[in-house]
Amino acid sequence: MNTLTRRFALAALTATLAIAALPTAHAKERVLNIYSARHYQTDEALYSNFTKQTGIKVNRLDGRAEELLERIRNEGANSPADVLITVDAANLSVADAWGIFQPVQSKVLESRIPANLRTPTWFAFSTRARVIIHNRKLVKAADVATYESLSNPKLKGMICVRSGMHPYNLSLVASLVAHNGEAATEQWARGVVANLAMPPRGGDTDHIKSVASGECGVAIANTYYLARMLNSEKVEERNLMKRLGIVLPNQSSQGVHINVSGAGVVKTSKNREAAVQFLEYLASDQAQRYFAEGNNEWPAVSSVKVENEGLEDIGDFKADSLPLEKLSQHLVAAQKLLDRAGWR
Ligand code: FE2
Repeated sequence: MNTLTRRFALAALTATLAIAALPTAHAKERVLNIYSARHYQTDEALYSNFTKQTGIKVNRLDGRAEELLERIRNEGANSPADVLITVDAANLSVADAWGIFQPVQSKVLESRIPANLRTPTWFAFSTRARVIIHNRKLVKAADVATYESLSNPKLKGMICVRSGMHPYNLSLVASLVAHNGEAATEQWARGVVANLAMPPRGGDTDHIKSVASGECGVAIANTYYLARMLNSEKVEERNLMKRLGIVLPNQSSQGVHINVSGAGVVKTSKNREAAVQFLEYLASDQAQRYFAEGNNEWPAVSSVKVENEGLEDIGDFKADSLPLEKLSQHLVAAQKLLDRAGWR
C-alpha cells in the first residue's frame, strides 16, 4: 500500500460509522443503492426525480468519504453499493486505486461530460475551484497572483492552510506537480511551510474567517465556501467577505485549479444497468442544476447554467484544463513531497 492509500485507510479505521443498514428490496422492485459523501438540501428532488423518471427506487447511505470507501472495501463482493458519490479527485482516485469502481462506457456520459472531467471509471458531475483569498489590508492581490507566489518570503507569517493530508490540498499540489515538476513543487511547498502563520489546521471556512479578522493574511479556499458566505442570510457573514479579496490565480499560466464532485459504478454492483442509468441521469440538464446548486458549484456539463449570485461575484476565470486522470497520477508524489516539506 502506498503512502496515500495508507493514510486513507488509517483515517477510515479511526473514523466512527453511524449509518443505519440499508432496507432490503422487495421482489422484482428495481432498486439502486447509492453511497454518498454529498448531502445537500436539493438532494431530495435530485433522487426523487430519478425515481419518477425510471421507477427505480433509490436507497441512500450517507457518510464521510473515507468511511464509505473503507465500508465498500470491507463489504467486498457482498457490498450492496451500486454507486459511490464523493467529492474531490483525490478521493475518487483513491476509490479507483482500491478497485472500488468498474469501467463505464456510455455515449451519453462521453458526450455530456468534458473529457478532462472524466476517467474510464468515474465522472465529474459538478466543479469547484480552489482559489487564493487575502486580507485586503495585510496583503496586496498582486503579491498572491499565483499558487507559486505563496512560497515568496514576502509572505512570511501570513499563510493559513489545511493539513497537507487533506484531499483538497493533495489535489492542488498534484496539479502543481503536473505543471511544474516534483522538485520545483517540493521547493515551493517548503517555502509555503516557512510562510505559515500557524501549523496547518482547520478547514476553508475557518480560514475565510481568520483572513477576514487578520489572524492570517492569506489562505486557500474552495469557491463553494466563498459563495456560501457571499450568499449567506447572515449579514455578519456577508460583511466579513468585504474584508477579504478573492484572487483567481494563475490567469497567465495554467489557470485556476479545478476540482469536482463525482461518481462511479461500484465494481460489485448487482444493479449495474440502473447504476449507469443513474450516472446518465446525473448528466441531464435538470439533475445538473440540482447537483450544482446543492453546494454552490458549477455544473460539469458546460451547456447547463445556474444562477448563483455568490459565484457571479467571484467572477469568470481561466480554469486549469489538466485532465483529472493525469492529476491523479501525481497524488502519491504530492503526498510524499508534502510530508518531506513538513506540511502535515
Ligand atoms: Fe468541502
